[in-house]
Amino acid sequence: MTSDLPIYLDHHSTTPVDPRVYQVMKPWLTSRFGNAASISHVYGEIAREAIEAARRQVAELVNCQPDEVIFTSGATEANNLALKGVLKAAPSGSHLIVNRGEHKAVLDPAESLVRDGYAATIIEIDSNGQVDPNKIRDAITSKTKLVSVMYASNEVGTINPIAEIAEICHERNIYFHSDATQAVGLLPVDLQKQTIDLLSISAHKNYGPQGIGALIVRRDRGRIPLTPLIDGGGHERHLRSGTLPVAMIVGFGEACRIASEEKESDSLRLSTLRDHLWTGLSSSLDGLHRNGHPTECLPNNLNISVAGVDGDALMASLTKIAVSSGSACTSSDPAPSHVLRAMGISESLTKASLRFGLGRSTTEAQIDFSIEHVTDVVQTLRKL
Ligand SMILES: Cc1ncc(COP(=O)(O)O)c(C=O)c1O
Repeated sequence: MTSDLPIYLDHHSTTPVDPRVYQVMKPWLTSRFGNAASISHVYGEIAREAIEAARRQVAELVNCQPDEVIFTSGATEANNLALKGVLKAAPSGSHLIVNRGEHKAVLDPAESLVRDGYAATIIEIDSNGQVDPNKIRDAITSKTKLVSVMYASNEVGTINPIAEIAEICHERNIYFHSDATQAVGLLPVDLQKQTIDLLSISAHKNYGPQGIGALIVRRDRGRIPLTPLIDGGGHERHLRSGTLPVAMIVGFGEACRIASEEKESDSLRLSTLRDHLWTGLSSSLDGLHRNGHPTECLPNNLNISVAGVDGDALMASLTKIAVSSGSACTSSDPAPSHVLRAMGISESLTKASLRFGLGRSTTEAQIDFSIEHVTDVVQTLRKL
């Protein structure tokens, strides 16, 4: 990497692999190349042991049992497995509840299920981007099998009232899934205390490699009937067939180990930097709107809308920082963010929104520089 690249402030989109993660992955890409399913010899056995060690590290981060961890290619696949897996194992016509604030990796599988004859209710979010548990309660029908509510928003950082929603689901004997992709490395996700039946996570949002993640399938309320998306050799308790990518899983495990140890200190440092960013920007510019929940927010997220500037011009002029407008994960779709629109934010403010995602390598000097750069750009654009 050259130092003239923009400052990276888009950690909701992806995070760099931590050098400690890279170190532990290296041998699994070269000399230790065994297939973990071929255990008739030592190559396979070694690979299998490494995978089981990584599984324990992932489980430890969210406090579940190792055999509840089902490795997938990432959170998109984990969400698909949760939604389609539960619904397709249930009678046709069964019902699912999602909400407008979800990532497309939940909304699109829900739509696909509707095309396949299942029913879905999409509940609205409030102006802070949060799901109201009462709306979930009201949407439940006798056919509801699954409720899916993300732990924290990838766009505005809003943390949902997960405990309350989980309780409503359990009272009604409905499975509860949460996409915790943005939350796990920063918030105290604890599945012994939180009654979440299915939890999606992804390594690359948490300083691990891209292309690996997991669906946690709890067993404490009995076996959850799940139809696999991929059939084959019966890997991952028959829920996700396919040769396991050992290097990536080992890296995912190490990333989880580091997060278990460092998430509290990371969160504290990041929220201080984030607050500094907001204070700096809002004291040097007027017409800024902060999007998201004022207190229930991820420590590394700042989402703002800038009044009086054109969104495209703003993004084109911010050449010294790498930030996102809306969700980079759906950047193949240039439409304004569906989440900001669902929060009731006008189209022009939605288009002129910036999402800052701070991360482990973000420094105070970078934040100071970013405040100056954004201020200069906005002041220049407003004079045109
Ligand atoms: C909340 C959320 N869910 C799912 C995903 C998709 O994750 P993955 O890239 O692991 O498929 C992302 C990011 O892209 C996300 O932020």
